[in-house]
Amino acid sequence: MVIETNITKMFGIKHPIFSAPMGPFFTRELALAVSEAGGLGVLSNVNLSGTNPTEEHLESMKFMVEHTDKPFGLNILTSRNNPGVKEMVRKIPKLIMSDPKIKEQCRYILTSAGSSRFLPGSKYFQELRKVSEIKHFHVAPAVWLAQKCVASKVDGIVVTGTEGGGHQSFEKVTTLVLLQQVNKIFPDLPKIACGGFATGEGLAAALSLGAGAIAMGSRFIASKQSEFHDNYKALVLPGKPQDTALYWGAFGPIRLLKNKYALAHPAPGSKEDMLEREKSITMDDMIKDLDAYEKVYKGDTENGAVLLGQSIGIIDSIENVNDIIEGIIKHAENVIRKNSAMVK
Ligand SMILES: Cc1cc2nc3c(=O)[nH]c(=O)nc-3n(C[C@H](O)[C@H](O)[C@H](O)COP(=O)(O)O)c2cc1C
Repeated sequence: MVIETNITKMFGIKHPIFSAPMGPFFTRELALAVSEAGGLGVLSNVNLSGTNPTEEHLESMKFMVEHTDKPFGLNILTSRNNPGVKEMVRKIPKLIMSDPKIKEQCRYILTSAGSSRFLPGSKYFQELRKVSEIKHFHVAPAVWLAQKCVASKVDGIVVTGTEGGGHQSFEKVTTLVLLQQVNKIFPDLPKIACGGFATGEGLAAALSLGAGAIAMGSRFIASKQSEFHDNYKALVLPGKPQDTALYWGAFGPIRLLKNKYALAHPAPGSKEDMLEREKSITMDDMIKDLDAYEKVYKGDTENGAVLLGQSIGIIDSIENVNDIIEGIIKHAENVIRKNSAMVK
């Protein structure tokens, strides 16, 4: 049995499960495992320094096509504070077009943390659209942002609620409420639900709320294939939802595990505060943030930034990606069958 949705059909994948991008951490091995398991693996935007910002994306795409024939995707952070953004939206579509295998398999570009207009504004992206099956989705953490995405003519949105790990928004709307709000206004828009998913029950709920797939970050961190340090993975299993909170990061609000690093940062306030703060972010702040990521890469989970979502409260094993995906699908199928049997 399979669960077929508008998203599985759009991307030609077996299961409605995506890996969430988790820059600046590498997610090549993870993306490969997810795509191979029948989901859609997503490569992260790892380079936040602005120097040769497309180099790692190209290497990651080459890695994917060397190891699998399955579709995959990638993330571009379109934040004003990402110094390489202009170069990325111009060059990445060109790089995809210049390699026939990459052009065939790279089916999904997810933009996030900034404007949904940057990528459609690239003439190379418009060219790529004509010669490939590429789809553009953007992260929407609130209804008004979903409306902006639709105005930018995206192919779909990733509906991400505040319980999600890592890069977040000042909007602080839960996935449960947001999905229902967005579905009411855009019932036919392809939607991927994100933030707080780790189980088959969660997938079944997302499908009931109008999504065609889920994307998971924290669940996949706790997998054998993820590139995260073992010290990082070890924090997931005992973690409770209350162990995470929103803090200010150089790219906006960010959900972190409450460690020494996180507690030295203020909690995000309003949108106005955020815009003011964005303006005041200096190169020095960015370097400090990058240093905190570097530290956690190497296993320092006290002084480094540990990005995790509330879903750590429902993750209790470190497994193979294939087993995670198969388990979620099996549970979701059971839930869907059980639920439909309630209708008399
Ligand atoms: C370690 C980590 C890094 C992240 N980096 C990014 C990023 O570079 N771009 C982005 O759009 N979202 C990023 N996010 C957010 C995820 O894409 C996704 O929204 C989140 O993990 C979903 O919540 P979950 O962890 O409960 O599955 C990151 C999340 C984590 C945990």
